[in-house]
Amino acid sequence: MGFRKDFLWGGATAANQYEGGWNEGGRGPANTDVMTRGSKDRARGVTYILPDGSHHQTESFTVKKLPEGARFAVLEDGDIALMGEMGFKTYRMSISWARIYPTGMEETPNEEGLGFYDAVFDELHKYGIEPMVTLHHFEVPLGLCNAWGGWADRRTVDCFVRFCRTVFERYKNKVTYWLTFNEINNIPIGFLSSGISTDDPAVIMQAAHHQFVASAMAVRIGHEIDPTFKIGCMLAASRTSIYPATCRPEDVQQAWEKAGQHYFFTDVQCRGYYPFYQLKYFERKGIHIHMEEGDEQILRDGTVDFIGMSYYRTMITETVPAEGSDPLLLGAINPYLKATEWGIAIDPLGFRITLHNMYDRYQLPIMIVENGIGAADTVEVDGRIHDDYRIDFFRDHIQAMKDAVELDGVDVMGYTAWGPIDLISAGTGEMRKRYGFVYVDMDDQGNGTLKRSKKDSFKWYQKVIASNGEDLG
Ligand code: BG6
Repeated sequence: MGFRKDFLWGGATAANQYEGGWNEGGRGPANTDVMTRGSKDRARGVTYILPDGSHHQTESFTVKKLPEGARFAVLEDGDIALMGEMGFKTYRMSISWARIYPTGMEETPNEEGLGFYDAVFDELHKYGIEPMVTLHHFEVPLGLCNAWGGWADRRTVDCFVRFCRTVFERYKNKVTYWLTFNEINNIPIGFLSSGISTDDPAVIMQAAHHQFVASAMAVRIGHEIDPTFKIGCMLAASRTSIYPATCRPEDVQQAWEKAGQHYFFTDVQCRGYYPFYQLKYFERKGIHIHMEEGDEQILRDGTVDFIGMSYYRTMITETVPAEGSDPLLLGAINPYLKATEWGIAIDPLGFRITLHNMYDRYQLPIMIVENGIGAADTVEVDGRIHDDYRIDFFRDHIQAMKDAVELDGVDVMGYTAWGPIDLISAGTGEMRKRYGFVYVDMDDQGNGTLKRSKKDSFKWYQKVIASNGEDLG
């Protein structure tokens, strides 16, 4: 049995974490260009918004941005050649919105930016790699954030739809697979995900509505431009994977309600309407979503073709916090699981459970567009990198995905490992937290030669792909 013959093995990156050239080729600045570096103990900050809400330009914006990503190499024998060597069938990447529309508001696109992605797609096809493009991956042109707070404002929908139309038309002969919003349920993160400078739940949920409308419009327009397009949504599925800390019914109810707060997003994008429980939730919280005339129809007409999801971990919820809980982000610590240095619980069986639940809910094909382990790698004196912990992580998760397919009957289209070439962490802005099969010589301060070295996991993943997931040894 095993995976489909056309299973889409590969890797995934995001422009703002990997592409580099943030102020080159006519690209405008974006929200992610004005965020500080953090660490596992310190959250990233937004450097140019003062506590009173006013804006000013800071050092990180005007003088030196975060270390560049891995300097996306489209040249011959660059990163794409390494992806080809690993046997990638697909490469999930995002298009930088600010590279095409530098402030987000222009009427005509930046030709140099469009040409850049032509070169990337041509290079991918040279190696038989199918591009899978995320239209919005944590990146909003700073012009839109400054003008009206990014996605908090309805006008951003029109700007985004213009951008989508441009890239659909331009790349219709080069790209078939598209994803609308990366981890749309992470919108409460605010500035990083959507350029929003407030944590007011009413504003955040209104912004989510704007993204639902924009996503649905993109799906409809994409299908009009090319009916063979396959357009998916993308959910941080780890946030639906919540275990109750005990069998206390209150814990179970809370776990189930918290998961619903995230399934809500795929419910709208897959079914085309707001689910009953979320409407009640908004009522209870006094949140009123302003819908324009025609929005409900737009949502119905723009449901997705497949589900894209990331999976990194499971979480725990509890009504009576146990000692050692982290009430901020991560929930209680699961005593049955090991965690990474960054406190991410490692749970392959949770992956199978998550896949099963997701497929049961929507019966749409699932594309796993992110999975992986962030770890600090050591380069030995001979230059080699022995990352057996990464191999173990992938082996266990790919086996769990296989079980979901073979034992449970889940329809999985493909799997792209997160960050196949080391890149900057979205959560902490660090380079030290590495995901790749390929090591990039650069530190958190941006020092280094950017030289690429294959880690032990490189050959291992190559073998997995060559055997279509049969040889995980
Ligand atoms: C997902 C994002 O949340 O997780 C990626 O879509 C991100 O952009 C990835 O990089 C891993 O998280 P982090 O914080 O370790 O980079």
